[in-house]
Amino acid sequence: MTDKTANAMWGGRFAAGPDAIMEAINASIGFDKRLAQQDIEGSRAHAAMLAATGILNDSDVDAIRKGLLTVLSEIDGGSFQFSTALEDIHMNVEARLKELIGDAAGRLHTARSRNDQVATDFRLWVRGQCDAAIAGIEALMRALVDQAEQGADWVMPGFTHLQTAQPVTWGHHMMAYVEMLARDRSRFADARARMNESPLGAAALAGTSFPIDRHMTATALGFDRPMANSLDAVSDRDFALEFLAAASISAMHLSRFAEELVIWSSAQFRFVRLSDRFSTGSSIMPQKKNPDAAELIRAKIGRIFGANVALMMVMKGLPLAYSKDMQEDKEQVFDAADNLMLALAAMDGMVRDMSANREALERAAGSGFSTATDLADWLVRVLGLPFRDAHHVTGTLGGLGRTGRCRSARSDACADAGRPSRHHRRDFRCSRRA
Ligand code: ARG
Repeated sequence: MTDKTANAMWGGRFAAGPDAIMEAINASIGFDKRLAQQDIEGSRAHAAMLAATGILNDSDVDAIRKGLLTVLSEIDGGSFQFSTALEDIHMNVEARLKELIGDAAGRLHTARSRNDQVATDFRLWVRGQCDAAIAGIEALMRALVDQAEQGADWVMPGFTHLQTAQPVTWGHHMMAYVEMLARDRSRFADARARMNESPLGAAALAGTSFPIDRHMTATALGFDRPMANSLDAVSDRDFALEFLAAASISAMHLSRFAEELVIWSSAQFRFVRLSDRFSTGSSIMPQKKNPDAAELIRAKIGRIFGANVALMMVMKGLPLAYSKDMQEDKEQVFDAADNLMLALAAMDGMVRDMSANREALERAAGSGFSTATDLADWLVRVLGLPFRDAHHVTGTLGGLGRTGRCRSARSDACADAGRPSRHHRRDFRCSRRA
């Protein structure tokens, strides 16, 4: 496709248009159209500043402002024609603006580059996702607190190594996740606070010769301040990586809980019953009710971890300042954010709908010798035994050990003497010590 005309935005020194393959590898509009709202918000703030500083005249900026609103409504209404030839959301919006308002559109890009433009758009988008993640986490925390309140004193086994360890309560277990989620929330809040600086005005990398007001655009976009260094402003994506890191940790928590729900909803445990709304059936086995939402949460989490690693890989070799590699930041973050929000919503729905089975919890807590530690503690407190001895004595009590016969080679009194055991002293069924 070399006979195509050169790009109207940057093609001044180009005699021919890009090859179709070049267009395919270069275009980001297929995904960065998701930044349309942020792009137009950023352009409106930039245009208003250009008017306030006298860099553009009021009538041009008024036309730009109205034109941008029309573009936004076309995008929102679905009538906007996105063009791959126009590469990305920034040039798609500007080209349409030119169709709508004519030459004034060409003045919008004064004192700006797509480099500070995309850095601004993406920061705004990721900042919004921090807020969404915080809201999703808080909803799930409330659902867990409701569960905890309902079963505050329902006794259940606590596990280590997934072996019955000591009794805890349903409320205690639910509140463990509330603590984890509270830390997740604060990680998103920390990341949000750090990323909330405006790259606008950094232009391509070195700032601009126009007398812009960076504080004005920063304030208009809800940023705390302009970024201090223009090279940094256009070339780092650590804000997106912090989002992905916070998302990964939160996703890891969701995945652990999802794993517990899969175990707990099994016929072997029956600790919880998941609602029909958050389970599926089997097409062949009529008795089945599968915890698919929990399984999919557990599985989707891998995409979030993957996005974190992928963006680290994109960034790790890039010299300052902007490189086109950085266009590859968006899809990873979009996908991770979508899946995190979905996982949070699905977990919230499951937790709200699920009912804990008090009888099954208590029955399980009553088996597996979950109070053996309490008995040992009692021997220490009441009889004054050293804890190690109390531990041993408790361990010798009938039923605690394995159910096989004694295999000690060293205990004459044992009927099974002669069957070798390396652990005679731990063989609680034998009354004689080695
Ligand atoms: N679509 C590009 C991106 O997402 C916008 C910035 C392009 N800048 C440039 N100098 N080519 O990174």
